[in-house]
Amino acid sequence: MKQRVAYSPGLIALHWLSALLIAGVLVVGWLMGDMPKGVEKSNMMSLHQTLGVAVVVLAFLRLVLRRLQGVPPVELATPADKLAAMVQVALYGFMLLVPVLGYLTSSFGGHPVNLLGGAVSLPLLTAQNHDVHEQMGDLHQAMAYVMLALIALHVAGALKHHLILKDDVLAKMAPWVAKR
Ligand code: HEM
Ligand code: HEM
Repeated sequence: MKQRVAYSPGLIALHWLSALLIAGVLVVGWLMGDMPKGVEKSNMMSLHQTLGVAVVVLAFLRLVLRRLQGVPPVELATPADKLAAMVQVALYGFMLLVPVLGYLTSSFGGHPVNLLGGAVSLPLLTAQNHDVHEQMGDLHQAMAYVMLALIALHVAGALKHHLILKDDVLAKMAPWVAKR
């Protein structure tokens, strides 16, 4: 396969769509956390779950597409490059882990996962268990915050490349950014 200098259009689209979805799932998660029990909260939960499941589906698609289409070579020249590469692998991991923990939280709570406003229902995976439901919810939330910290590091790295090192790392993923 020919070596790429930038990500394929499909991988770029999926990267930015996933970033938007994750921002959306977090905002909806925070909003629903403060709401009193009721129909509105259930609707927000369904939206949270729909966006969250979409995150996993897109992460899988990306992993398939990066196999098929290849990606630019990974730079591992400095410790910062190595950290960045590890953070990218971890981000894929968290895009799979956090939604799975969310699904388990719902399942231990005895709540089926209703997607797209109830058009699709995912089955319960486990028996109901109130204590495990609470612990799983805490773990889901904690892992979402670890993911948020990794995203902050990832964005800081991208900005460092663009603003300080003034290289083409951001342009690999953001074709609208002028090449240096
Ligand atoms: C929720 C937010 C985000 C997530 C989960 C995320 C995740 C990822 C992942 C997993 C990769 C590796 C892609 C691959 O090799 O298949 C990647 C690459 C990249 N991301 Fe993000 N990203 C996010 C937001 C951003 C933002 C806001 C920026 C820019 C400010 C950015 C800039 C980049 C760049 C430049 C690369 C290519 C790095 C390289 O190949 O050296 N990302 N991102
Ligand atoms: C990337 C995907 C996801 C992220 C970043 C995320 C993030 C969060 C956050 C931050 C909260 C805490 C809200 C608060 O109380 O302040 C939360 C709660 C919750 N999420 Fe997610 N979530 C994701 C996907 C999912 C999925 C796919 C499901 C289910 C299928 C789900 C089910 C839940 C449930 C049931 C709660 C309430 C937990 C509790 O009662 O303690 N989440 N999520």
